[in-house]
Amino acid sequence: MNPPRHLLQIEGLPPSEIAALLELAESYVLLNRSGQTERDLLHGRTLITLFFEDSTRTRTSFELAGKRLGADVITMSVATSSVNKGETLLDTAATLNAMHCDLLVVRHAQSGAPALLAQKVDAAVINAGDGTHEHPTQALLDALTICRHRGRLEGLVVAICGDVLHSRVARSNIHLLTSMGGHVRVVGPPTLIPPAIEKMGVEVFHDMRAGLAGADIVMALRLQKERMARGLVPSAREYFRFWGLDAERLAYAKSDALVMHPGPMNRGVEIDSAVADDPERSLIREQVEMGVAVRMAVLDTLSRRGLS
Ligand code: NCD
Repeated sequence: MNPPRHLLQIEGLPPSEIAALLELAESYVLLNRSGQTERDLLHGRTLITLFFEDSTRTRTSFELAGKRLGADVITMSVATSSVNKGETLLDTAATLNAMHCDLLVVRHAQSGAPALLAQKVDAAVINAGDGTHEHPTQALLDALTICRHRGRLEGLVVAICGDVLHSRVARSNIHLLTSMGGHVRVVGPPTLIPPAIEKMGVEVFHDMRAGLAGADIVMALRLQKERMARGLVPSAREYFRFWGLDAERLAYAKSDALVMHPGPMNRGVEIDSAVADDPERSLIREQVEMGVAVRMAVLDTLSRRGLS
């Protein structure tokens, strides 16, 4: 079977492919730090970013990654409010095909939208986050960040804390970490943990002390108020009191446990500034740096598989 042309999800990606992407990304970290990047790999290719949802890090880093590899990078602006999603997606696909786009980076509020587009466009499609489904490049950049500090993923205990229910980052991380031999725990109030998530191979905790005990990595997630149909949490203040990651709670984990957050952070809601900004423990800024390298590795890999 030919390797997939698109990157739509981590689920189903063989561990060897994950390892190869991480290895390639590591070489891009070194190149980026040295200031020399291979500028002609995507020369003459067009990369379009199409974000139906807000983004700072993901969009910028895809654009930077494309430019560093020499692609023509176009930001397509989308009206978020007044569109009928099904129709617009298909119309958009036709437009993109007419423009001869080679690589398409899509973020959409609807789970499955990038997969639908992938059937309709000639370009290689990269999912930059779809609804509550997956955010594959985020999981890859998180894995790269962990590997640089711990040298492996296998056997590590990773506690993913907070709003797992609405988090595509959590789902992609669970798929990636469990398939690479990590032990994943999800920690949060019952209202924010999806039912039957144990089937994904994770342990569920409704108590920060028990959930963090012995963890190597503590990953805090943003409370995604925009995806909450009803009040699943009483108030931000109360949420922080029970579920906020502060120094006291971090002390439940291993003494050298490292802290991650995909961003954007709600300081004082799911994470305390003292923890988020602690240079000894927090990898949050490094995650952003790794994001560029991982996205370069993904663009590189897909382009070598042959663009249309
Ligand atoms: C995340 C996302 O959009 O899924 N952000 C990101 O890409 N770094 C997480 C979030 O929005 O909380």
